[in-house]
Amino acid sequence: MDPLALYIHWPFCLAKCPYCDFNSHVREQIPQARMVAALRRELAYEAARIGPRRLTSIFFGGGTPSLLDPENVAALISDAAGFFAPDETIEITLEANPTSIEAGRFAAYRAAGVNRVSIGVQSFDPVALKFLGREHSAAQAVAAIELARDIFPRLSFDLIYARPGQEEAGWRAELRRALSLAADHLSLYQLTIEPGTRFAVLHGRGEFALPEEDAAARLYDATAEEARHFGLEPYEISNYAKPGGESRHNLSYWCYRDYAGIGPGAHGRLSLREGLVATSRHRGPEAWADLVERHGTGAHQEQIVTLEERAREALLMGLRLASGIVLDDFAARTGVALADAVEPDILAACIEEDYLRLTDTALIATLEGRKRLDALLPALVR
Ligand SMILES: C[S@@+](CC[C@H](N)C(=O)[O-])C[C@H]1O[C@@H](n2cnc3c(N)ncnc32)[C@H](O)[C@@H]1O
Ligand code: SF4
Repeated sequence: MDPLALYIHWPFCLAKCPYCDFNSHVREQIPQARMVAALRRELAYEAARIGPRRLTSIFFGGGTPSLLDPENVAALISDAAGFFAPDETIEITLEANPTSIEAGRFAAYRAAGVNRVSIGVQSFDPVALKFLGREHSAAQAVAAIELARDIFPRLSFDLIYARPGQEEAGWRAELRRALSLAADHLSLYQLTIEPGTRFAVLHGRGEFALPEEDAAARLYDATAEEARHFGLEPYEISNYAKPGGESRHNLSYWCYRDYAGIGPGAHGRLSLREGLVATSRHRGPEAWADLVERHGTGAHQEQIVTLEERAREALLMGLRLASGIVLDDFAARTGVALADAVEPDILAACIEEDYLRLTDTALIATLEGRKRLDALLPALVR
């Protein structure tokens, strides 16, 4: 049976963070029962057409899935386990915010079957937490991490760096503190300004500036250096893990394997009888639930992914990984040999500059190459 990763989107947050353009919504009263019923129905709909598969991971992402009651998480996991064949080593991750209310539910999530949490810490600096509009304190974040370490076999947390005015020494100190608390995984993101967010408005008005490119690149190098000291390798552009601690769910995306996406705004890539299908769902939670109630799914658009698009997507995803793209896997998954998917002159120039390395078995972006991936890829991809 082909492997499958399952993503379940929970689209609600207590407040909207000013930097965030994820599909998250604030409601006075979250319609939890209705949303969970719709998620379960859409999962059943999707499972019926996907057929039997080996289930390698489930990821509850958001929004803030730690607002979901543990019994609802348990119901979704049990539904998925009934439709598919869970691997013995299945990874079940839930994204959590570190407020004390949510941390209080960790044991119940563990009992529901969650074996990995990913906590949105963002910073340990009170001034930065305020700037980022977070609802929790640094002390709450530390308490949530320590509790999660006792309860879950695996744990990750997120930090945002390259913030306005952030100096290398300060970031190294903050990062060391994070690394001393880390378990097997960390996600370390550079702050980006996303269109449509509050930060886009403030940044546009000149109320703050991000570090210049050189300074941001130095912060990136410092990040990899510090992480390595603590035994965490940068295995993807923004993700650091001890050997074996890599997120299996996210590896499914980066290795361009099949994944199903359930819930408002969720995306999927599914090998079905008609070909590789790109699925997407309506973003608005209530509009999505209406559709599910009427048709069994809140599907928005479905498209067959053409051979060219497959090659493009597989390159975009695979070059993010430090291990690169396995040439045989690429050909098997896309139907195109990698040599035919890239511009030969650009490939040669990237190899010459040591941004890319081509071995007998893989195409790999070096650390310098991964830093410039957004600039390189449009030219590289045919
Ligand atoms: C869906 S959120 C994580 C879960 C949870 N809602 C939380 O905020 O704690 C995914 C992560 O993406 C990162 N992120 C979101 N927008 C970002 C931005 N504009 N720049 C950098 N990182 C960002 C944050 O670290 C955030 O924790
Ligand atoms: S960062 Fe997390 S808590 Fe903040 S709005 Fe985005 S999804 Fe919600």
